[in-house]
Amino acid sequence: MSALLDVQNLKTYYFARRGVVKAVDGVSFSIDQGETLGLVGESGCGKTMTCHSILKLLPKPGGRIVEGQVLFEGEDLVLKTERQMRRIRGAKISMILQDSMTSLNPAYTIENQVGEVFAIHQKLKGRALKEKVIEALKLVKIPAAETRLRAFPHQMSGGMRQRVAGAIALGAKPSLIIADEPTTALDVTIQAQYLNLLKEIQAETGVAMMFVTHDLGVVARMCDKVAVMYAGRIVEKAEMKDLFRHPRHPYTIGLLACLPKMDAELDKLVSIPGQPPDLGALPDGCHFAPRCPECMEICKQKYPEERLARDEHYVSCWLVEK
Ligand SMILES: Nc1ncnc2c1ncn2[C@@H]1O[C@H](COP(=O)(O)OP(=O)(O)OP(=O)(O)O)[C@@H](O)[C@H]1O
Ligand code: SF4
Ligand SMILES: [Mg+2]
Repeated sequence: MSALLDVQNLKTYYFARRGVVKAVDGVSFSIDQGETLGLVGESGCGKTMTCHSILKLLPKPGGRIVEGQVLFEGEDLVLKTERQMRRIRGAKISMILQDSMTSLNPAYTIENQVGEVFAIHQKLKGRALKEKVIEALKLVKIPAAETRLRAFPHQMSGGMRQRVAGAIALGAKPSLIIADEPTTALDVTIQAQYLNLLKEIQAETGVAMMFVTHDLGVVARMCDKVAVMYAGRIVEKAEMKDLFRHPRHPYTIGLLACLPKMDAELDKLVSIPGQPPDLGALPDGCHFAPRCPECMEICKQKYPEERLARDEHYVSCWLVEK
């Protein structure tokens, strides 16, 4: 069976006045139907640009896909026109953003915003439309959904707003949801509830998910497999449990060491020393070399191409034998 989403050697660059920012630089991964992939990495490594490339929502005029394929249900989205993409966005692939306050329109009621997707993609109106909106709000467990229809986003809590954003994303029954840090604006308890809710909905609807986060704890909870991104490239990818038990790339090992343990004292938390590189001026060789405790001579000269460490477990590091 072919994958639902198969991204191959995707390169998305941002052409700025000061030079070319290689935000996504040869990224490949796939997601099967009903599966959840976690995309993790530090701030600025290209996670959001990867998501936006899939939906072709790149910053204009500078952002451009320069190479690669985004095969969705066997068709290359890179080749689609804007008109064709409009029929895919929201209907077959939808996105949940980090901050629901920016993804919801403050000037429209919840009914208007959740209803829009049904009005456009399913041509519903009147009573049928209203019922569909209530059904969508119930799916994301909004209490007393009928009474919320006329509310505006600012009248709801952050957690509720994020549920509304979820209702909009799920409305047209997409086969893939891209969730870009959907819980970072929420407090810990609400975050846990929201993650559980997404899991439940996934079990009910069979929707596949691409889950972007810098939190490996969230990955452990949500994902079947993981891709670790560093400076525009995927440096390690594997089944979730395999990655947690047998991380191979020094960057992944560093990220895992940053995970707070239940019994850890706060002042003992570690972080990876050094700064991520400037994507407009990448070093030759392995991008992680300046921060890597295992760095060897070859690492500074040549980028290590991807190699298979074990079953379905790929690593870009000279330490791993080819
Ligand atoms: N509109 C833009 N103009 C110029 N550069 C941009 C723009 N958007 C993104 N970039 C550059 O592309 C790179 C990747 O950004 P991206 O937003 O994908 O990172 P990210 O991994 O999502 O980070 P975060 O975890 O902070 O959300 C960054 O280094 C950033 O400098
Ligand atoms: S290739 Fe070398 S520098 Fe890069 S992560 Fe591996 S050991 Fe470290
Ligand atoms: Mg981002």
